[in-house]
Amino acid sequence: MTIQWFPGHMAKAKREVTEKLKLIDIVFELVDARIPISSRNPLIDEIVANKPRIMLLNKADMADPDVTKQWIDFFAAQQIEALPIDSQSGTGVKQIVAVAKERLRPKFEKMLAKGIKRPRAMRALIVGIPNVGKSTLINRLAGKHIAKTGDTPGVTKAQQWIKVGKELELLDTPGILWPKFEDEEVGLKLATTGAIKDTILNLQDVAVYALRFLAIYYPDRLKERYVLSHIPEDIVQLFDEIGKKRGCLAVGGVVDYDKVAELVLRDIRTEKLGRLSFDRP
Ligand code: G4P
Repeated sequence: MTIQWFPGHMAKAKREVTEKLKLIDIVFELVDARIPISSRNPLIDEIVANKPRIMLLNKADMADPDVTKQWIDFFAAQQIEALPIDSQSGTGVKQIVAVAKERLRPKFEKMLAKGIKRPRAMRALIVGIPNVGKSTLINRLAGKHIAKTGDTPGVTKAQQWIKVGKELELLDTPGILWPKFEDEEVGLKLATTGAIKDTILNLQDVAVYALRFLAIYYPDRLKERYVLSHIPEDIVQLFDEIGKKRGCLAVGGVVDYDKVAELVLRDIRTEKLGRLSFDRP
């Protein structure tokens, strides 16, 4: 999905999420476990303000598990509860309801104390930047039989609730927010992981960034994947070596750098270099 984020669109997105927040008890902030900072909306704290929030590190199946552990500790130190999940397979998804219940316990206990015998289900909204996995998670939580309740009185009529068991109701349309793309490195990380379309940034620039990152953090995997005895310091030389090894050649036998860039990025996104994390605590 490509969304052009003009200031007007950002203001509209913020307004829409703010409207939805009025209907819910808790926010599930979805981020990409490989880039949990770069895939956050820059205004999320301001937008969500005082609503209880759980951070979901989605696509944890693709992230470096050691780094994910570090992130969970990092966020815990900031009083942010973060759960690693894989919405595609469902790993960790069951825990979301349990954690939400715990977070909202005080609110629901207050309801009980006020004499409300059967408190309603918790109401949640999923928010996140495009391609982070919001729809996948909604479908995963909804399971095979999506039971939609009818219009709730006093609620904007377009909104539908998806029942997740008895205890949770999810707004059927997620809150879509924009990433922090004014930061060049954030843009490169979003592109490396495939969160933004390859046409937005120059593919070779993205591959240069990714290869430099891999050379620092995952040198052995880089060497193994492209059968390199050592990693050349010079990035053009590295492109040349990978290109020759993998047959990314143009007419005349010269290395085609676009092909190398495509190959490297495809390899990263399809986990040919294993599970990688590009943001580090
Ligand atoms: P969005 O609503 O936030 O825009 O994201 P969406 O659910 O469409 O997910 C974007 C892509 O990320 C999809 O892949 C989806 O399958 C993949 N995805 C979502 N959650 C996970 C996860 O936990 N782990 C992994 N490995 N992938 C996940 P796609 O290539 O766009 O489509 P497809 O492969 O499903 O056909």
